[in-house]
Amino acid sequence: MKPHKISVIGTGYVGLSTALGFTTKDYSVIAVDTDKEKIEKINKGLLPFHEPHFQELLEKAIKTGKLSCVSTFEKAISDTDITFVTVGTPSQPDGNIDLQHIEKAACKIGKALQKKGTYHLVVIKSTVTPTTTETSLKHLIEKHSGKLCGPNFGLCMSPEFLREGSALSDVLHPDRIIIGEFDKKSGDTLEELLKEFYNKNTPPIIRTSLSTAELIKYASNAFLATKISFINTIANICEKISGADVALVAKGVGLDKRISPLFLNAGLGYGGSCFPKDIKALIACSKTLGYEPELLESVENVNKIQPLKAIELCKDLLTNLKGSHIALLGLAFKPHTDDMREAVSIPIINQLLKEGANVTVYDPVAIPNAKSIFKDKIKYAASAIQCLKKADCCILITEWDEFKKLKPEDFTKNMKKPILIDGRRIYNPNEFGKKLLFKAIGLGQ
Ligand SMILES: NC(=O)c1ccc[n+]([C@@H]2O[C@H](COP(=O)([O-])OP(=O)(O)OC[C@H]3O[C@@H](n4cnc5c(N)ncnc54)[C@H](O)[C@@H]3O)[C@@H](O)[C@H]2O)c1
Repeated sequence: MKPHKISVIGTGYVGLSTALGFTTKDYSVIAVDTDKEKIEKINKGLLPFHEPHFQELLEKAIKTGKLSCVSTFEKAISDTDITFVTVGTPSQPDGNIDLQHIEKAACKIGKALQKKGTYHLVVIKSTVTPTTTETSLKHLIEKHSGKLCGPNFGLCMSPEFLREGSALSDVLHPDRIIIGEFDKKSGDTLEELLKEFYNKNTPPIIRTSLSTAELIKYASNAFLATKISFINTIANICEKISGADVALVAKGVGLDKRISPLFLNAGLGYGGSCFPKDIKALIACSKTLGYEPELLESVENVNKIQPLKAIELCKDLLTNLKGSHIALLGLAFKPHTDDMREAVSIPIINQLLKEGANVTVYDPVAIPNAKSIFKDKIKYAASAIQCLKKADCCILITEWDEFKKLKPEDFTKNMKKPILIDGRRIYNPNEFGKKLLFKAIGLGQ
């Protein structure tokens, strides 16, 4: 049997991960994007963002002709039989998701489907709030194609769970696959493709309605965000108790098999392109449905305040921020990515600048993105050590491996005052606390 031909709409983290994932096996992928610069880069084999392993995969996929990127939908729809939609679904100012990109994509898919004589399956992978696929996207594709969902084209909602920084392994070895289906034929077509792709390594597949699939994605992210805000709440209690240490509390709690140690690392809160916007969207969606989701509102409120704990700890040791020199290690919302969307470094830098501090930053890969946000308001160092030079205080923001290797002497030898705030609990308080003025999230003094 000939492998299915794939198209992917939107070449961001999810779209490019999906496309490159398929090219690792015997599939050809046509990707579509509206961003001309991005298309040009991809077709030259240049990765538009930082993600481990992707540069080599992209070069190979372009060289072998397995991946091509275009700006129009016609060929992508006519020459393939399954289309994955992976465009962005950002937040609106009121927290609801902004559907403009995905609705435009649905209209263009519809128009391109007009001329197609054979069955085509559309799979929504973008995160959308419950009922969006059925009430908005299905309707738009039907309207612009003049065809009927079911007999003429299929529709699935299969949420993506990959993590930036480990996207390749997450795409090739997912924990589970959710197939929300408009009808059985749509679900069967997607399941057949995925079983063909994963073969013996096919993970558990759960078949659901479209809206259940949409909600599974939000419930997963809401649960993980809840775990983070929970442990940060415990961290804030620990700080009031002499001798208490949240790192050990989390270890003790996480060894309970019912809880697990994952997502129990206290720190400066969650950021990134998904958790903040997805929690906001679920809250807004729930309120529209007439239910006040108090738990989720608390999760969000805890996370809003948490980054500023870094400034609070800094002020405990450095009474006046005005005119002080603060070194920040890490900018990206997590290690192994250059993504700064909703990164906690942003409110921390803004607050430091507001209080009159001079800020110097270093991150192994996120500096170009930081420059587009902060321009010349802050200084950019070429290494961690250069960042520390003559600083009055250092705040560790992102837990990159290279920062874990720093020794107390790296701080004492290079800084004006050896003050370190560990915002991610990567340093041993027994070692660093003896040689530096040291504060850490969730460490009672
Ligand atoms: N980034 C993640 O880690 C992650 C993980 C799971 C799910 N998601 C979800 O997946 C979706 C995509 O996220 P992302 O981070 O890849 O987004 P992104 O912003 O990195 O990329 C979106 C891409 O879509 C393109 N695009 C926008 N409108 C288009 C249109 N009409 N036609 C063609 N292309 C268009 C943009 O130019 C951009 O390249 C979102 O709904 C997100 O919530 C993201």
